Amino acid sequence: MSLDNLLRLSIGELFLKFPYTKDFFTDHLVPYEGHENYTVNQLFENMDEEVIEDNAINTELFITSLVEYIELMSSYFASNQETENTITIYPGFYKDGTKEHFKKIEITKGDIVSIVGPTGSGKSRLLADIEWAANMDTPTKRKVLINGRVLEPHERFSASNKLVAQLSQNMNFVMDLSVYEFLDLHASSRMVENKEQIIAKIFDKANELAGEGFSKDVPITELSGGQSRALMIADTAILSKAPIILIDEIENAGIDRKKALDLLIGEDKIVLMSTHDPILALMGDKRIVINNGGIETIIETSKDERSILSNLEELDKTLMDMRNRLRYGKRLKFEEEFKHE
Ligand SMILES: Nc1ncnc2c1ncn2[C@@H]1O[C@H](COP(=O)(O)OP(=O)(O)O)[C@@H](O)[C@H]1O
Ligand SMILES: [Mg+2]
Repeated sequence: MSLDNLLRLSIGELFLKFPYTKDFFTDHLVPYEGHENYTVNQLFENMDEEVIEDNAINTELFITSLVEYIELMSSYFASNQETENTITIYPGFYKDGTKEHFKKIEITKGDIVSIVGPTGSGKSRLLADIEWAANMDTPTKRKVLINGRVLEPHERFSASNKLVAQLSQNMNFVMDLSVYEFLDLHASSRMVENKEQIIAKIFDKANELAGEGFSKDVPITELSGGQSRALMIADTAILSKAPIILIDEIENAGIDRKKALDLLIGEDKIVLMSTHDPILALMGDKRIVINNGGIETIIETSKDERSILSNLEELDKTLMDMRNRLRYGKRLKFEEEFKHE
């Protein structure tokens, strides 16, 4: 939206095209009722001097801020309007320089895909290739299309436009903010309407996921690994509208990973997660197997594996329970743990 284009529109047309601008007029105490056929300039020309003074309207500033506001909102909404989400991966090269064997891999909305492979094999690299929509310019030389097209540089690197939410292995906070300030900052930048409610919701969820609770006033630099991971997961799940969620090894942080995953998975989202954890690996519909820097194969989770998954979940519960009891100074009793066998 350029300034010239804006000045050509009538106020009625403006509201029709960008419905959120109505609030912008109201917030800036600019009365428009009954003048919807005027352009913005005409509105000010015909406005009572007294109204302009009383409402402290700076007409020039109003117009330039309006243009900026429309641009900001358009980019914000643009990133959320994507409905047909697909990721297409074209082959690159293994670490030893041989070409990957697949023709292309398509991941579509609703897909939950895990990424498995030995440490150092290239799981994080694959996630990063997707996060930045690699265009044969990363160590793997893969090409990644989002919704069937190569992203423009401004789409790849702009934070406000991001299609991808990345939860990374090393969550190093450098900011000197309290938990509340951090959430407030994020919620404000997302321009949510019910900010306090959203902040409270994220905060509660994060506490539920983290084993140990924390308060809103702690500096985020003082959170434990598990607590900061829980905060990021709740924040991403609740505040981010990104249709693609990338998760790099959430298992090692002592959070409730099943709850975390359930929170992150939305109907239309694509979720890709690298993991060494059999439970998370089997929770995917399929798993990408990485070896020596390359995508070796893709395996669909079988029926057998699904029933193994429920056994694993039972075992996991027992293990978590034991961990918690030891944590709180209790003794374990053989009969109690194993009496159901
Ligand atoms: N195909 C590749 N070609 C060249 N370097 C690669 C390739 N895949 C991964 N790497 C590099 O190997 C290193 C280990 O990869 P990484 O993704 O961190 O492994 P993982 O997450 O599986 O432990 C990184 O420095 C990464 O950039
Ligand atoms: Mg890694």
